[in-house]
Amino acid sequence: MTAALQLDQVVKHFPGPRRGTRVHAVNDVSFSVASGETVALVGESGSGKTTLGRIALQLERLTSGRVLLEGRDITQLSQSALRALRPHMQMVFQDPWATLNPRMRIRSVLEEPLKLHTPLGAPERLARIVGMAERVHLGGSLLDRFPAQLSGGQLQRVALARALMTQPRLVVLDEPTSSLDLSVRAEILELLAELRVQSQVSYLFITHDLGTVRLIADRIVVLYLGAIVESGPTAQIFKQARHPYTRALFSAQLSTDVRERRERVVLQGEIPSPVNLPRGCSFAGRCPAADDRCRAERPALVTESAVQIACFKPGVALAAR
Ligand SMILES: Nc1ncnc2c1ncn2[C@@H]1O[C@H](COP(=O)(O)OP(=O)(O)OP(=O)(O)O)[C@@H](O)[C@H]1O
Ligand code: SF4
Ligand SMILES: [Mg+2]
Repeated sequence: MTAALQLDQVVKHFPGPRRGTRVHAVNDVSFSVASGETVALVGESGSGKTTLGRIALQLERLTSGRVLLEGRDITQLSQSALRALRPHMQMVFQDPWATLNPRMRIRSVLEEPLKLHTPLGAPERLARIVGMAERVHLGGSLLDRFPAQLSGGQLQRVALARALMTQPRLVVLDEPTSSLDLSVRAEILELLAELRVQSQVSYLFITHDLGTVRLIADRIVVLYLGAIVESGPTAQIFKQARHPYTRALFSAQLSTDVRERRERVVLQGEIPSPVNLPRGCSFAGRCPAADDRCRAERPALVTESAVQIACFKPGVALAAR
């Protein structure tokens, strides 16, 4: 079956801080999101998650590589051809405030994409708005309010509803729950799962939070310095992550879960500068198992059944430092 989204050897450079330098934000990334699947993109700040999400929707042009939406290469399309595809691919951001016009009533916020992208008349638009408000559990009385009169959780429901109005095939969600408190976060995640079952939409879900990944994602892609270090089915990676970086991330975030008997790997130091990429493994400067080979050679991303991993010593014992 054709993937909803396929990224093929994607590279993205930005101009660097000084003349002649480049920020290597994304370095040869390939993965796909199947129809109806949720793939989580995780990694520390600066690892390239947002850049990849924007590239997936061609909100950002890439330096090299290809992006395929349902099998169609969209990297060479003109702006107007991309505009025609916008209804099929949408993005939801961390802060719904930033993208909602404060002077528009919620009803108009939801109507706008229908006016822009569909030939529907006013009565059909109204029916869609009411139906969508029900699906995202927004009371009908909220439709006549302005954004400032809604809570953060309600606003994020509006942002989701707006993204889904045109029945997209792919939605990129960039930290959609990280500005919400825990109980509201759980409600939004449940809602996302419900909506996915109803509409077979695919999600590329960007997050720092592994707890969220476990609840929502079928597969997980772990990024480090703009490259995939490990990817695979969520259950399998949670059971047995093998890349030292993934294990350090898990150790940092999940150590309070007393049911999990996990090694302790302390993540020290910072991600190297994306302006001067290290010669060898990009994690070597922080990896407890690094040796001379790791510092000199870059490990290739190797596929072993459903899992991909870029490490010379996957699963190596890591002593806590
Ligand atoms: N427009 C830009 N110009 C120059 N550098 C950029 C630009 N956008 C992103 N970068 C750089 O690209 C790298 C990846 O950034 P990106 O925002 O994709 O990371 P992220 O994983 O989303 O981080 P966070 O978790 O903080 O949101 C970073 O080094 C960032 O500074
Ligand atoms: S290749 Fe070496 S430095 Fe890189 S993660 Fe594996 S063991 Fe650590
Ligand atoms: Mg980001």
